[in-house]
Amino acid sequence: MRKVVIAGNWKMHKTQADASAFVQQLMPQLEGVPDERELVLCAPFTTLGLLVDKLQGSRVQVGAQNIHWEREGAYTGEISGPMLKEVGVRYVVVGHSERRQYFGETDETVNARLKAAQINGLTPILCVGETKQQRDANETESVIVNQIKQALVDINQFNLVIAYEPIWAIGTGDTCAAADANDVIGKIRSLLDNQEVSIQYGGSVKPENVDEIMAQSEIDGALVGGASLMPDSFARLANYRA
Ligand code: PGA
Repeated sequence: MRKVVIAGNWKMHKTQADASAFVQQLMPQLEGVPDERELVLCAPFTTLGLLVDKLQGSRVQVGAQNIHWEREGAYTGEISGPMLKEVGVRYVVVGHSERRQYFGETDETVNARLKAAQINGLTPILCVGETKQQRDANETESVIVNQIKQALVDINQFNLVIAYEPIWAIGTGDTCAAADANDVIGKIRSLLDNQEVSIQYGGSVKPENVDEIMAQSEIDGALVGGASLMPDSFARLANYRA
């Protein structure tokens, strides 16, 4: 059975005080969420310990947004797998388009970070997606196939979540048509050895469109930026109507 994973990606938002208030407002709104849905909050490094603590015994898991491939070393500004594991993080976002675009992430470094996540017992959420220009040039499929193939070299597909996030739909309010996202995700699945990998859609998912997105046959969850920042809105996503 493919697992449903609804994950918030807070990006560079929220202090510890903000995170604390968020959890307090969120928890009562999750009581009706079906047990089989996995809920995750991927937060900045400074709030991870606090979130793990506050969410202990709840159904919400905590994720980081990046991981270095080495255990330790002279890599100023980076965080390693053992550090995340010690804090109690369960997931980590790898290869988000903002990291590829602004911080020089490549398919090779994505692959190395995926390995580090798995070695440390974390579940990576591998992000792939095409630019608007690539979509307009009908290159979506080739771009995605390439990203997936390179990212997954020597990666265990039994501890993996993939997020299809068309770059032009991230933070723009411009969602990919649910049926189009479904087609691309079906294509990604056809490249995998393990057909049970959960594949999310990401890019302007919000309370108004989550039900339609989650109704698609190939879509197993959502990776959500903006709409995960308000507790009411994240709760509505978690409570999507199937
Ligand atoms: P968005 O971001 O929901 O704000 O479009 C999604 C993401 O970047 O993961």
